[in-house]
Amino acid sequence: MDLETIIKKGVLSQEAYPAVDLPCRIKLDANENPYPLSPSLTRLIFDRLQSVSLNRYPAPGSPALRAAFARYYGVKEEMILIGNGSDELIHILLTAAGPSSHSCVLFPTPTFAMYGISALNTGHRIVEVPLDRRLDLDMDAMLAAITDARPSLIFLSYPNNPTGGCFDRRGMERIIEASSGLVVVDEAYGNFSGKTFLGDLDRWDNLVILRTLSKVGLAALRLGILIGHPSLVRQLNKVRLPHNVNIFSQVVGGVFVERSAEFLEPVERIIAGRKWLSDELMAIEGITPFPSDANFILFSCVTGKDAVYEHLVERGVLVKNFTSPDSLVNCMRVTVGTAEENREFIETLRGIVQGE
Ligand SMILES: Cc1ncc(COP(=O)(O)O)c(C=O)c1O
Repeated sequence: MDLETIIKKGVLSQEAYPAVDLPCRIKLDANENPYPLSPSLTRLIFDRLQSVSLNRYPAPGSPALRAAFARYYGVKEEMILIGNGSDELIHILLTAAGPSSHSCVLFPTPTFAMYGISALNTGHRIVEVPLDRRLDLDMDAMLAAITDARPSLIFLSYPNNPTGGCFDRRGMERIIEASSGLVVVDEAYGNFSGKTFLGDLDRWDNLVILRTLSKVGLAALRLGILIGHPSLVRQLNKVRLPHNVNIFSQVVGGVFVERSAEFLEPVERIIAGRKWLSDELMAIEGITPFPSDANFILFSCVTGKDAVYEHLVERGVLVKNFTSPDSLVNCMRVTVGTAEENREFIETLRGIVQGE
C-alpha cells in the first residue's frame, strides 16, 4: 500500500493536532470555564435526561435545539445549524466550499489552529496573512489577498485565539464588503468581549457567525451554533452527518437556552479574574501580557520560555505553550481560572521567573 498516492497531500503534510494531555493540578491550557455547574442546574439536567430514549437515534438536525437557539439569538430557524462543537461547523463549511484551483481559504495568523488543519484536510489551498505589530488585522495585506486569491472562505476569530483581542470592527466590515466569498466571524469567546456581529446579519448575506457553548461551562457537550443566511444553511445541511449531535447534548443544550442567565453567571467573575491576572502578569519582570477580550491571556516571556513552561508543568500548572508561528515563539497562553487557581498560577510563575 502506498499511502502517498492514497492520502491527500494536505493531510500527509500535517502532524496530528497537538493535544497535550499532561497530568496537572491546575488546568489553564484549553480556555475552558473553571467553574462546575451549580447543584440546581445539575439536578435539572439529570431530571431531563431520565426521559431520554437511548434505543432511538437522536433527532436529525437537532430541530428543538435549532428552534431554541433561533429564539435565543433572535433569528429565523432556517438561519441556524447545530454542530458537534464549532470545530465540526468549521469542517462542514470547508467540506461544502470548493476546493477549486482558483479559490482558497484565507485567515490572519496567528489564529485558531483548526481553520488551517481542517482546510488542508478538505483539500483547500490556504493563504495566511500575518497580523500587524498591534496584533490587529493588516488591512492592506488582507485586502490585497482578497483581490489576488479570491478566497471562498475567510475565518476571523473575534476575539482572536490565541492573541486575545478583538480586531478593529471597521476593518472586519471592510473585509466582509470586499469579499465575494463567505466571511466566518468566529465568536467562540463572544461572551467575554460583549462584542458581536449578530446584529449585522441583515447587512451582508456572506456573513456567517459561529458561537459555542464550550467556553461557558459546557465544553464536554460539544455544541456549536452556526448562524448564517438561510440559503447557505440549506446547503450546509446536505453536508452535515444526519445524527451529528447526540441526544444528551441536544437535551442539555435546551436547558442552557432555558436557564442561560444561570449558566452565564461566571462570565463576570472570569472577566474580573482576567483583569487581576493581567495586572499581576504585568508586574512580573520579563513577562508581558497582551490585552485580552477573551477568557485567556497571551503573554511573552523574554528569557528561557520553554524552561519556564517545563517548570510550570513540573509544579502541576498547565498552560498552553507555543513553538510556532515565529511571532509566538516567546509566548504562552493562560486561561483565566478560579481566583484560587489564578493566585497559584501567578505565585508559581513568579517563583520560577525569580529562580526560586
Ligand atoms: C476561536 C475558536 N473557535 C472554535 C473553537 C472550538 O470550539 P468547540 O469546542 O465548539 O469546537 C475554539 C476552541 O478553542 C476556538 O478557540
